[in-house]
Amino acid sequence: MCGIVGIVGQQPVSERLVDALKRLEYRGYDSAGVATITGGALQRRRAEGKLVNLETRLKAEPLNGSIGIAHTRWATHGAPTEGNAHPHFTGGVAVVHNGIIENFAELKEELTAAGAEFQTDTDTEVVAHLVARHRQEGMGRGEAMHAMLKRIKGAYALAILFEDDPSIIIAARNGPPLAIGHGDGEMFLASDAIALAPFTNEVTYLIDGDWAVIGKGGADIFDFDGYPVERPRQTSMAAAYLANKGKHRHFMEKEIYEQPEAIGHVLAHYVSLIENRADAVPIFDFASIPSLTISACGTAYLAGLIGKYWFERYARLTVEIDVASEFRYREIPLSPQSAALFISQSGETADTLASLRYCKKLGLKIGAIVNAAESSIAREADAVFPILAGPEIGVASTKAFTCQLAVLAALAISAARTRGTITENEVQALVRSLAEMPRIMGQVLNSIQPKIELLARELSKYHDVLYLGRGTSFPLAMEGALKLKEISYIHAEGYAAGELKHGPIALIDKNMPVIVIAPFDRFFNKTVSNMEEVAARGGRVILVTDEKGATASRLDTMHTIVLPAVDEIIAPMIFSLPIQLLAYHTAVFMGTDVDQPRNLAKSVTVE
Ligand code: F6R
Repeated sequence: MCGIVGIVGQQPVSERLVDALKRLEYRGYDSAGVATITGGALQRRRAEGKLVNLETRLKAEPLNGSIGIAHTRWATHGAPTEGNAHPHFTGGVAVVHNGIIENFAELKEELTAAGAEFQTDTDTEVVAHLVARHRQEGMGRGEAMHAMLKRIKGAYALAILFEDDPSIIIAARNGPPLAIGHGDGEMFLASDAIALAPFTNEVTYLIDGDWAVIGKGGADIFDFDGYPVERPRQTSMAAAYLANKGKHRHFMEKEIYEQPEAIGHVLAHYVSLIENRADAVPIFDFASIPSLTISACGTAYLAGLIGKYWFERYARLTVEIDVASEFRYREIPLSPQSAALFISQSGETADTLASLRYCKKLGLKIGAIVNAAESSIAREADAVFPILAGPEIGVASTKAFTCQLAVLAALAISAARTRGTITENEVQALVRSLAEMPRIMGQVLNSIQPKIELLARELSKYHDVLYLGRGTSFPLAMEGALKLKEISYIHAEGYAAGELKHGPIALIDKNMPVIVIAPFDRFFNKTVSNMEEVAARGGRVILVTDEKGATASRLDTMHTIVLPAVDEIIAPMIFSLPIQLLAYHTAVFMGTDVDQPRNLAKSVTVE
């Protein structure tokens, strides 16, 4: 992860660098730093922790210079201290890096033996030393950069300043994204075009293996072998992603409440797809594929798991699904006649991208369900299914999750229709249920907050929480647990309700609340039996159900959250709302940093 910015400007750059970093803080917030060249010398300011600390430092000790690079860090190698914060300086070279240099240990040993003195515990510092050494050997700047790139292995987006030439930044990409911005007599560089949105919307994306020499008037781009290459210049839509919290305390809260509207956009877009208009599903032919493969990470993976239930039930399509970090190395035998879907809010998740490339190599048709339209995953797919959730800034995914589900539901119904596995009447009934979602979501969000706050206050006193569900409520139970642990730091696990008696039931006592997600569906009675097993062992049950379920269950619960009774296909989206709000309010009571929880980042561009 980490975020990189660079400016080759006409005016002092440090304020603009920090401003741009603010829009990249979603990529990591362990430390931040900025370097410029002023008075013929490299200068830097760095600070541990959030960007606000760097801002304070810069107020006390401003930095001049009209060329500079900056970095916000998500620590991989070396503790998140000021000493390990980028930019790293050595021998007149300053480096910022996003990614991991996998062979840093052997390079460090070699460089140390040759007399280099390392100041940090990071993998990145080898880059600075290699370039500096090549310069000492008499190589030009570009030549030194190229020679360094030939030595390093791993994933990187790099930006380098040279003390002896305050007119250029040299950048390189292999893995993590990097966009060059074209300004008026100034040039920019960033991990994400959104960082550059106030400065320019004209961008050129580097592709893997590229490196570029960026001056005030433009950029010369080279491939890995050092040959000049042209990359298209395009107009970025990132400016639309500049977002604020509005009347809400946190982005996460705002994004939870945006769901009825966001889902409305998704449905409007995908109705034509469900109706099977010829232009609706470019390239993807669900009728002829023997099976479907899905891969993603975290919350996006859990959305995919719910999608699996739908594709199998409605479209009778076998789905192979795994988290991308496992999928990419499993060497799964896959048929080139098959198709693969990759789900990602950011469109940059390294493991998901690698899984996509694996399937592409095997000849599968690739579909990407992504929120960021200009992302690497979107660009490398054969067909893009936009999530249309709008900017999601809170690190914990909320509206992107329910919009991913809405896209998957639409795709599953479309596939079922194309494959002739459901009748036209059934299609229409499912579409009518989907169309009800924005209204029901609005109704739920307007009514459940007081009850959830009450429950959250209580939940915040516990150290462990178990979530249970069956059918599509099982992945939702895992999502509930993920959401709670990532923002409140309370330990939580999600289990298939039927698995309880195969081990986890040993944990049940009065100190571990059990949140049971049980819409009144085909599985309700079975889930209630599992709930009774919990109650019989002194466990405290929090039941999240609908009106029918609340009437049918006679169990004495710690709390019951009652939602409107809804059709089975939309239950996961509707039941996501109390799950998200419960995690949110519990975290607020615990006083954690809800939008930027510790150790996390919004875009995970390392393995
Ligand atoms: C959790 C969360 C993460 C992401 C995961 C994948 O709330 O947001 O688990 O879902 O890191 O990210 P994307 O969707 O960007 O590939």
